[in-house]
Amino acid sequence: MHEIDALRTLAVHAARHAYAPYSNLLVGTALRAASGKIYTGCNVENASFPIGSCAERGAIATAVQGEGAQFALVAIAVAAFNRAGEPLPVTPCGACRQALVEFGEEATVSFRQPDGHWLEVTASQLLPHRFSFPAG
Ligand code: THU
Repeated sequence: MHEIDALRTLAVHAARHAYAPYSNLLVGTALRAASGKIYTGCNVENASFPIGSCAERGAIATAVQGEGAQFALVAIAVAAFNRAGEPLPVTPCGACRQALVEFGEEATVSFRQPDGHWLEVTASQLLPHRFSFPAG
């Protein structure tokens, strides 16, 4: 199986763990680190809406916990479903894009398009003219 296919499958499984009683949008992610290890994440909502967290940043937090500053992102797949289990097109939100480029500008990011097909782009392509901490 192609690597990105395996990540897509794991992202689909991770979405089953999503805690999304408010949006009913169940999001799962699976990423591969440069170490070869796989980490997954899901969205975790809260009654205080702004403190909910996205699936992508959940997986990144787990990866950093596992590997520390060595963590480098190679590829990530994002899968989303409604309560009926139907797949929905979801691309990483702006905040997650900034989090993705932090760990892998050339990382492959895969998600479903509105026509249902999976698309692969780089994290860099998702966030042109991004913020980076100014030197000096
Ligand atoms: N969500 C993600 O998990 N990832 C994204 O990139 C977009 C949005 C979640 C956050 C919230 O729980 C729900 O989707 C609706 O915004």
